[in-house]
Amino acid sequence: MAALAGEWEGDEGLDVAFSNAEGRIVETPFRERMSLKPFGPVNNGPQVLYGLDYRTAAWRIGEENPFHTELGYWLWDAVAGQVMRCFTVPRGQSVLAGGTAAPDATTFTMRAEVESETYGILSNIYLAKAARTTGFEVTVTVQADGVFAYSEKTLITHARWDGVVEHTDRNVLRRIAG
Ligand code: HEM
Repeated sequence: MAALAGEWEGDEGLDVAFSNAEGRIVETPFRERMSLKPFGPVNNGPQVLYGLDYRTAAWRIGEENPFHTELGYWLWDAVAGQVMRCFTVPRGQSVLAGGTAAPDATTFTMRAEVESETYGILSNIYLAKAARTTGFEVTVTVQADGVFAYSEKTLITHARWDGVVEHTDRNVLRRIAG
């Protein structure tokens, strides 16, 4: 996770989501800026966590205001071999995703499921009915020093779509500072 510390930018983002304006699934290219700042230790009794304080913002190409943001923490529990990301998106949703990884892993996956009391997902009352997020999964791959990619899938049961919406996002980020 130390390899991820810094300030990052990437303009190869691709979002696939159900668009309420268009009533169909739409692909949106985006650029992104992410900040990951190391902190720790955090002690939960004998549990020791180190982490990265993070925020990210994604813009449709050519637009001034971001269309997606996240705020949260990436965490590492070395004894349990767990990587975690707890974050919130400003739709009124919070996620704690986690997974198992080796300390020197260059790729790892974190998952969350709705109704789990550990790696879970919470949505506000409106979204829980209209666009219920049931699963989240993200795979992070450090491709080289100063380059990492992520690929994520958010499963949404949507009132306006038959079947599950596979809302996916991916990007490649390059360190610009830090
Ligand atoms: C880079 C990451 C992401 C981007 C760029 C993004 C972007 C979008 C876009 C463009 C929409 C369609 C909104 C509309 O037209 O109505 C959407 C919908 C949605 N997203 Fe994301 N999203 C991302 C990640 C996430 C994550 C991580 C979650 C939750 C864990 C999430 C939850 C949702 C939900 C619940 C909706 C449906 C809202 C509705 O239909 O009312 N998204 N997202």
